Amino acid sequence: MIEVDGLTLIYGRGGTAVPAVAGLSMVVDSYELVSVVGPSGCGKTTLLFALDGLLAPTAGRIRMHGEEVRGVRRDVALILQDAGLLPWKTVRANAELSLRIQGRKETAGKVLAELGLAGFEKRYPSELSEGMKRRVGIARALALQPRVMLMDEPTANLDSITREHIQNLILGLWWEMGFTGVLVTHDMEEAVFLGKRILVLSARPARVVEVIENPGMGEPGYRGTPEFVSQVAHLRQVLGGNGP
Ligand SMILES: Nc1ncnc2c1ncn2[C@@H]1O[C@H](COP(=O)(O)OP(=O)(O)O)[C@@H](O)[C@H]1O
Ligand SMILES: [Mg+2]
Repeated sequence: MIEVDGLTLIYGRGGTAVPAVAGLSMVVDSYELVSVVGPSGCGKTTLLFALDGLLAPTAGRIRMHGEEVRGVRRDVALILQDAGLLPWKTVRANAELSLRIQGRKETAGKVLAELGLAGFEKRYPSELSEGMKRRVGIARALALQPRVMLMDEPTANLDSITREHIQNLILGLWWEMGFTGVLVTHDMEEAVFLGKRILVLSARPARVVEVIENPGMGEPGYRGTPEFVSQVAHLRQVLGGNGP
């Protein structure tokens, strides 16, 4: 379980200080997958960095499984926006990067194979398609065998076929592994496809302005159902018609 109470994050100090998150509270139950949507620049990535322990709260607190977050935890993985691959490292080295940063000796070979990347381990990111790069980013997170997965726009800038592929992959992994997940997206269909609940954030500084229950999420064929379509329409309305 993730508990966030009155989280405030301010970049810098004094006259140039930028408040990115202001008094944000949210709870994600164990094994729940929640999506987070909000206007561009509202503080979504900042929120994920704080959940991952990379940014210390200016005020408020974050607890994971009842323990206060103070720095990066072994059981929490973050999938960076655009996968965050290092171009000078091979696929395997990229997939094992978070393990090595944590001083762990495990390898990512099995995870890469599960994600259809066997045979590409010695390649470099520039030799991969966009969809493969995203899968390497996912492999890097999965290699940690995390209890909590934080995902920052995992399908942004992908073509629609690849996007659906990655979305189906994430849903499948969630079913299979049973992690607790927070998925940030600016894609409304993705928010409805992958969020058991959808948290809608305000413009910067971010706080939660609405929580949409989405009980149909995860059911087979959900994407094509009238319920799915009406949830997307509802979300679009909540976001003011223009989208985030
Ligand atoms: N290191 C930083 N220093 C100052 N301002 C920042 C920094 N990082 C992000 N910001 C600002 O904080 C706000 C929230 O950024 P971010 O969390 O990346 O938004 P989102 O992911 O929702 O698009 C933005 O206005 C951004 O310009
Ligand atoms: Mg962002």
